[in-house]
Amino acid sequence: MPAGQPADLIEKLVSLCKQRGFVYPSSEIYGGLNAVYDFGPLGVRLRRNIRERWWRRMVDLRDDVEGIESAVLMNPRVWEASGHVQSFTDPLVDCTGRCRKRWREDHLGDERAARGKPRDAPGCPECDGALTPARQFNLMFKTFTGPLEEQAAQVWLRPETAQGMFVNFANVLNSSRQRIPFGIAQMGKGFRNEISPGNFIFRLREFELMEMEFFCKPGSDREWHEYWCAQRMKWHVDDMGVRSANLRLRAHEKEELSHYSTATSDIEYSFPFGWGELEGIADRTDYDLRTHMQHSGRDLSYFDPQSNERYVPYAIEPAVGVDRIFITLLVDAYHEEEVRGERRVVLRLHPDVAPVQVAVLPLSKKAELTEPARELEHDLRRHFATEYDETQSIGRRYRRQDEIGTPLAVTFDFDSINDRAVTIRDRDAMTQVRVPMDGLVAALRDQLERSRANASGRARGGGS
Ligand code: GAP
Repeated sequence: MPAGQPADLIEKLVSLCKQRGFVYPSSEIYGGLNAVYDFGPLGVRLRRNIRERWWRRMVDLRDDVEGIESAVLMNPRVWEASGHVQSFTDPLVDCTGRCRKRWREDHLGDERAARGKPRDAPGCPECDGALTPARQFNLMFKTFTGPLEEQAAQVWLRPETAQGMFVNFANVLNSSRQRIPFGIAQMGKGFRNEISPGNFIFRLREFELMEMEFFCKPGSDREWHEYWCAQRMKWHVDDMGVRSANLRLRAHEKEELSHYSTATSDIEYSFPFGWGELEGIADRTDYDLRTHMQHSGRDLSYFDPQSNERYVPYAIEPAVGVDRIFITLLVDAYHEEEVRGERRVVLRLHPDVAPVQVAVLPLSKKAELTEPARELEHDLRRHFATEYDETQSIGRRYRRQDEIGTPLAVTFDFDSINDRAVTIRDRDAMTQVRVPMDGLVAALRDQLERSRANASGRARGGGS
């Protein structure tokens, strides 16, 4: 667990997220639905920033990656071919003792360790009761197309977006000017009927994936795998501002590998509940294209005009969940400190992911301040993600902005009416500078640039 953070951090985040409008339990007025969550006004802004920064780095700034959006519902033969119907399963065991809990067999060691028990203890992690033998349980949700709930109409909610890239490989190749090596990327919802969801939004039944299949020549796959591991690690640190000391790259053991992969490395984060997967980077070889060739009868091989060779490309896949990044950012940014005898909670978010970059706060609710302050906030909207707030005392409003991670707050006070200057307060240092309103946009840009540099320094290992 990151140094200097409270032991009950997840509970604190759950409450902060609800209170401030990041995350709510889904359909809460009916008691919620296990492992499904809704995102509030600030949560939506944070998610959009995560998505935009991923898309920019993985698609917009590259020559060799194209984007697609494939449908959640696909022909069910896709999932037979991909091996998901047969192999996308988790081993499930039930406690026959007092607690009757249901567990994933491969998580038993971790669950026992989390309760201070030996990893290889014989019984249930909760109550030490006897466990049933493991049964394989398929994680895909079923539904039906059309009015009849019959086998022929059965379809699956996709558990990964990746198959959309494989089945469209030839479409993208033929309609774009790409040649191998190149990638196809997409983001979208995925659904998994997880046996043991939990830890807030860490493991959900409905979540959002951002995945890219990078197609390369067989034999070059190990090199590309290493390349993408390094790129993705760098993105979490430089673009998301996650502290590198809390990240590690871990290669999967042979028995952990998914049915389609010969090598996978996870980027893991040190969560309060232990090291957990943030992103997976898999070498899927030619497994998927080959299996779709066999099942569909379509040729998905590639003719290399330079070497005059025909081959089935290998795919390297960096895959990460928006929700997983979301919880990582909150855990990594959460900071508590004592300021003048009071507890200050601050989310030290990177200024490019923070839901609000600049808050505009009139010192009092008097119209002579609120009207020009409102006008100012409207002007600033064109340049930054802003918020206007005139409720409560100025101290409380600063506290709210600290808690939601707003890097800069602009205060409009009684002097501002005459001197046409405002105060900029920095979230982390709590320093205040007075600047003329004429040059405010440039001054805020400068300050945000400094916040970016601080966030990068902190992420790479300098500062706390
Ligand atoms: N196509 C490859 C694939 O789906 P995965 O490791 O099963 O690989 C990729 O999932 C990423 O999706 C994970 O690293 C994690 O960030 C996220 N993820 C997976 N299952 C999740 C769940 N139940 N809830 C939230 N995020 C999840």
